[in-house]
Amino acid sequence: MDRLSPSSAPNAPLTGAFGAPAAASTSRPAGNRPAGAGLLAPQVQTLLHRPEWLLGTPLFPSRHAAVLPGEMPLIISVGGGKGGVGKSLLSANLAAKFVRSGLKVVCFDLDFGGPNLHTYFGVDSRGVTLTDVVVTGQKRFEDVLLQTPLQGCTLIPGARSEGWGREGAVDPAAMGQIYDAVIGAKSRFGADVVILDLGAGTQFHTIDMFLMAHLGIVTALPEPTSIENAYMFLKTALWRLMDHVGARSRKLRSPQLIKAALNASDSQGFQSRGYAERIRGLSGQDPEFIRYLFAALAGRRTGIVINQARNQQDVNVGNSMELIASRYFGFQSQFLGYLNFDDVAWKSLRNRRLLAIDFPQAILSHRLNDIASRALSLFGI
Ligand SMILES: Nc1ncnc2c1ncn2[C@@H]1O[C@H](COP(=O)(O)OP(=O)(O)OP(=O)(O)O)[C@@H](O)[C@H]1O
Ligand SMILES: [Mg+2]
Repeated sequence: MDRLSPSSAPNAPLTGAFGAPAAASTSRPAGNRPAGAGLLAPQVQTLLHRPEWLLGTPLFPSRHAAVLPGEMPLIISVGGGKGGVGKSLLSANLAAKFVRSGLKVVCFDLDFGGPNLHTYFGVDSRGVTLTDVVVTGQKRFEDVLLQTPLQGCTLIPGARSEGWGREGAVDPAAMGQIYDAVIGAKSRFGADVVILDLGAGTQFHTIDMFLMAHLGIVTALPEPTSIENAYMFLKTALWRLMDHVGARSRKLRSPQLIKAALNASDSQGFQSRGYAERIRGLSGQDPEFIRYLFAALAGRRTGIVINQARNQQDVNVGNSMELIASRYFGFQSQFLGYLNFDDVAWKSLRNRRLLAIDFPQAILSHRLNDIASRALSLFGI
């Protein structure tokens, strides 16, 4: 069976079939990495450079920069569909836990509606933001990169989307520049891990940034509106993933045909068979595209985090969401853990200091630690 070359340009359309990534021969046990080394072990790099991951990433107009094996950062996006569910709190505090493990982190504030990740870190962008790079072109990413109070963690501060593109959508050319900076963040900024803090909603630019990650975290509160939005977020991500797979495998009509068939069954009322199962059932129509789609689904991980949990019932929502994200939507999902409701969250924010630094002994900090460890362990780190 053909294998895609792992060194194929990340933004080039993919052709050929898929195989399992080759096992790296020289590997150091994950837990054996010296603190502060800032390097991901070779076997981790092999996992990150999988063609299956690439197949589901958006095909933006970009410089088609080739990222060589060994140069890929672990990309983690934090989304969830709804506002105020703790995406930024999680993003900033995951960064704190990662740097403590010796990893170098770059955070991108990609909340185009109301960026405020800088406030969680207690830093001031002084008005120099992502807009100056990707909209006006007056700065380079390196010029806007801010040092945070965490040694080993920098931030690309975000800016509101007015003027970024028509009808609230971010211009694909701007998105392409962000994409290049994210996938190239290891060689460009020395990042082992890139964290993408996303805005609320299911606009395509938000979903595309979610799908760009090796691990996309869906954050939700244990309440119906938030859970509904999380499911809408996953459905939009699945729909969008089909488009990306279609574009990268040059099967542009296939996503439309599959979506039309799924919409037709949806219009008949509630379907107990999930999208994943119904898509499998359509295999006879377009076997190659459906094989690519499942490869892309297998090439990325979805994490579930329940925030502001107050009791065991709230925590259990995370297990149910994991099941639905996997079985109904087809994403490789894992409940990464919960965060308890705690006033230290707003106290640290009011102090403009990181929770993990301000209140390291709080139960909430321990829960963040657990989530960070589980996220890394998915990639053998
Ligand atoms: N576990 C928690 N306990 C108590 N308060 C919390 C908790 N998590 C988050 N909060 C509070 O909820 C608010 C929203 O959190 P955050 O800014 O992280 O959400 P968000 O999902 O990034 O929102 P947006 O979509 O507007 O960017 C903040 O005031 C934060 O302090
Ligand atoms: Mg936020």
